[in-house]
Amino acid sequence: MKVIASISEMTRFSENLRRQDQTIAFVPTMGYLHEGHVALMREGKKKADHLVVSIFVNPAQFGPSEDFSTYPRAVEQDLEKCRTIGAAAVFTPGSADIYPPGFQTYVALEKLPLHLCGLSRPQFFRGVATVVTKLFNIVNPHFALFGEKDYQQLAIIRQLVIDLNFDIEIIGVPIVREPDGLAKSSRNKYLTQKQRPHALLLHHCIQAAEKMVKDGETDARKIEDAAIQILLSCPDITVDYVSICDPVTLDGVTGIQEKSLMAVAVWLGKIRLIDNQILFLPNKNV
Ligand code: PAF
Repeated sequence: MKVIASISEMTRFSENLRRQDQTIAFVPTMGYLHEGHVALMREGKKKADHLVVSIFVNPAQFGPSEDFSTYPRAVEQDLEKCRTIGAAAVFTPGSADIYPPGFQTYVALEKLPLHLCGLSRPQFFRGVATVVTKLFNIVNPHFALFGEKDYQQLAIIRQLVIDLNFDIEIIGVPIVREPDGLAKSSRNKYLTQKQRPHALLLHHCIQAAEKMVKDGETDARKIEDAAIQILLSCPDITVDYVSICDPVTLDGVTGIQEKSLMAVAVWLGKIRLIDNQILFLPNKNV
């Protein structure tokens, strides 16, 4: 496995594979790899001849009061995981490589960021879209894999490749959960023993919503309100949003559609947690 820090070397590595008609699957990450990332990497290995992973904690997607400096980092452990999975290369650029002095070109979508996480983290998706565009240009993969846990990010990247004419197939990989249902996240490591059961309320409120829909409830507001009540049963939780929305446009819906997205974000103390699930209208013919 090659560990490549330089942009020109990364581009040459990909060009060389492409010249030999070999395909490349790409998993961009901010490191501190967990089983969610491992699922993306395994899927990438299945899809293409070679897997490239990037590890870059992207300063442009953190707000001034967010956890950029304390975001967990464990590069040696991450490289070992990539090696075990059989990555061909890991790209580890530095901040000054990606954002050299004088950098001023950002990628921003007009509509999709105006929902869900974009409302409370206005700089976040501009930072994500910018770094992903740059990484796509540098790595030039055939496939790129993203977790469905960051549903809005995945929707934004699907739109970005269409709008900017990238010839890259975007593959969404289902959420990986702990045995009790908590969605895996690099930030779970911050949860104290006391907070850990409270974090599970995200999954519980989504399960409750699924049950309401299964039992015939179609009023999105009632389902959102019930979910908020479940979350607020923990006094340490501040709800950022509970939203039932269209899974493509992310526009809020008033009634449950055949397929609606339920997305939830909370603060548990200083830790931000998100989760989501598609809600399906029960099939009346079954
Ligand atoms: O999902 C992430 O880890 C990041 O947002 C990404 C896609 C690697 C861009 O920095």
